[in-house]
Amino acid sequence: MQLDFSYYNPTTIHFGKDSLAKLDSELPKFGDTVMLVYGRNAIKSNGLYDKVIASLNAAGKKVVELSGVMPNPTYSKMMEGVELVREHKVDLILAVGGGSVVDCAKGISVAAYCTDQDPFQKYWIEWQDVSNEVVPVASILTMVGTGSEMNGGSVITHEESKTKAGRVFPPIAYPKFSILNPEYTFTVSEYQMVSGVFDTMSHLMEQYFSDQGANTTDYVIESLLKSSIDNLRVALKNPQDYEARSNIMWNATLALNTVTGLSKTQDWQVHMIEHQLGAYTDCAHGMGLAAVSLPYYRLIYKFGLDKFVRYATQVWGVSAEGKTKEQIALEGIDALEAFTKECGIVTSLEELGATKEMLPKIAESTVILGNGYKKLTTEEVLNILEECY
Ligand code: NZQ
Ligand code: ZN
Repeated sequence: MQLDFSYYNPTTIHFGKDSLAKLDSELPKFGDTVMLVYGRNAIKSNGLYDKVIASLNAAGKKVVELSGVMPNPTYSKMMEGVELVREHKVDLILAVGGGSVVDCAKGISVAAYCTDQDPFQKYWIEWQDVSNEVVPVASILTMVGTGSEMNGGSVITHEESKTKAGRVFPPIAYPKFSILNPEYTFTVSEYQMVSGVFDTMSHLMEQYFSDQGANTTDYVIESLLKSSIDNLRVALKNPQDYEARSNIMWNATLALNTVTGLSKTQDWQVHMIEHQLGAYTDCAHGMGLAAVSLPYYRLIYKFGLDKFVRYATQVWGVSAEGKTKEQIALEGIDALEAFTKECGIVTSLEELGATKEMLPKIAESTVILGNGYKKLTTEEVLNILEECY
């Protein structure tokens, strides 16, 4: 563990089949007015909405609702929530849904009392310190992958400027508590489930493929990758397998609650490309990541060869016997590609809604970080996009 770190995570996790009952002890900790934030129809059709409303009523809360939060939540939707918070003086924002709903709730919470500047410019573009009151957020998670339930991430799409920007807020904006019942994910479509698992895997790989160290964090990442792979295979055969769905759920939380980034430099270039891809196509986040990852890793592996060899052997079980490092590393990336095919993950940008004309715009607007094994040029980003078109 070569790099110094301080670790603090303020989110209480209530995990398991009976975790919704924990609302009864959590709700009294907050004021009278709760804003329920949710998506389009998932929580109404699976009955969760009624259960949550019953708990809020039993706790004597006044309920304000923001519904219709879409995947890749937009700035204008977030600002609708901001208006409601200001009008009703909301004491707690309760997000019920996937990462998009939780991200939108966090965005509302920090933007509600940001009155000195446009909140998107201040917090998502300039990453200024949070200098205003923040409304507490909590979540009930129904779709797995982002890790938003236990981190400060909030990814918001500004429609007019076609910018999908992620901000990692400090612990003040983390959910105060998150309820994780794997059974709520049983109704998630296969498409969204595999997209979410690839998102988890991508978070792990973004943190893994940087530096040459061999710290404990890398061992943790390898285990979480193996668990994600094994349990997705089980869940694809039987989506109602509680053990598999619960492992998938907890893997996602651990993959981005900052534990797997401790004492490491981190890459995140795949996410930067996907964000702009998402801004133009509105594709499912995990699918966009999968498409970009394969050509990206084939471009950069030479610059982090030993780590790619380790990934191939430790995560995918590639045999090293009689092979060069180069061959082993490439077999690891081939194994990742084979897994995407096996699970029906979409890796063609055309299928994800991109047009050829979009590619240069996506490339030009992609943020280049330079924390991985190779700092990309805009031209290389374009090549990557063309390769997975
Ligand atoms: O709109 P509804 O009806 O709710 O349907 C949703 C949505 O269509 C559906 N769904 C959710 N729970 C369901 C369900 N359908 C049936 N049964 C259920 N129980 O799933 C669809 C996708 O939901 P969404 O929340 O968009 O998915 P996800 O959790 O993958 O979130 C993606 C967003 O999170 C951002 C992404 O960029 C994207 O905007 N990210 C957030 C991060 C963070 N906060 O740290 C990090 C990630 O890297 C990521 O960038
Ligand atoms: Zn992600």
